[in-house]
Amino acid sequence: MRVLVTGARGKVGRATVAALQEAGHDVRATDLTPPVFERPEEGEADYVQADLTNAGDAFAVVRGAEAVVHTAAIPEPTSNPPHVVFQNNLMATFNTLEAAIRFGATRFVNISSETVPGFFFPERPFLPDYVPVDEEHPIRPQDPYATAKYFGELLMDGAVRRSDINCISIRPSWVQHEGNYERNLGPMVRDPSELSAGIWSYIDVYDLAGAIVLAVESDLPGHEVFYIASPDNVGGRPFEAAIREHYGDRMEIKTPLPREDASGISIEKARRMLGYDPERSWRDYLDDEGRLKPG
Ligand SMILES: NC(=O)c1ccc[n+]([C@@H]2O[C@H](COP(=O)([O-])OP(=O)(O)OC[C@H]3O[C@@H](n4cnc5c(N)ncnc54)[C@H](O)[C@@H]3O)[C@@H](O)[C@H]2O)c1
Repeated sequence: MRVLVTGARGKVGRATVAALQEAGHDVRATDLTPPVFERPEEGEADYVQADLTNAGDAFAVVRGAEAVVHTAAIPEPTSNPPHVVFQNNLMATFNTLEAAIRFGATRFVNISSETVPGFFFPERPFLPDYVPVDEEHPIRPQDPYATAKYFGELLMDGAVRRSDINCISIRPSWVQHEGNYERNLGPMVRDPSELSAGIWSYIDVYDLAGAIVLAVESDLPGHEVFYIASPDNVGGRPFEAAIREHYGDRMEIKTPLPREDASGISIEKARRMLGYDPERSWRDYLDDEGRLKPG
């Protein structure tokens, strides 16, 4: 398929471009950063610079694509002013989706976020109602990032009502690759008492990219939302015991758990409906002290 990947120079976009090319797709990449005006490297995807908050840019880059993978966004709410996060993320999604509908693309893969239910960046903290968190969990965002991501999912609902496009929203957990596993997860591996809003969940970027390829190639109708996480938790905590130790009875635990060291996020829906079957773990990268393994 001819696939456009937005945010192609970001963590997720870069791995997604490579995975789609590996799967044989014809990929066009776009991002905010300037092109390199040199002879393309062998096999390099075409690249066009575009700011997707500008509808003209969005229409220019989406034209000709059969499928769109939309990863472009400011990936969390704490490092930019709130209105910038909200406006950038929501309008980039709106314009890219609008262009995909008007040009008759058949599939839109919307990279949403695990933060949509609201307990990651709240001003008034609260806990999940239950763990592992799944797609049925109530949605109560407070911050501009999670709210814009939720609105993005609502835009997908509207798109399938008013056109023949099919949409999949993916809610990735915290994205890790060889360059950030130690920095991000090392402390949580070393210190069993360290808590995380994602209840010790994470996602390996290459498994995430594999899930995105499955979503591009899927023929699921309508709009479906999927959590994508690695199956185990950071540090291999015995999940049920760790929840009881740190949260007492303040969180319901949905049993049976898929494994003793389960993730705080359920990937059962993605396994069932997308055929998602993650292969990687933090253990492939880090030792028991949370230090990067040699090689
Ligand atoms: N990193 C995580 O842990 C995480 C977790 C859940 C969801 N996500 C989502 O995954 C997606 C990718 O995140 P990432 O970690 O690769 O972030 P990243 O910052 O590495 O990449 C995002 C890319 O989007 C581009 N971008 C931002 N605004 C744009 C605009 N207006 N027009 C064009 N391009 C624009 C940026 O230039 C950047 O290259 C985002 O939608 C993010 O919200 C990330």
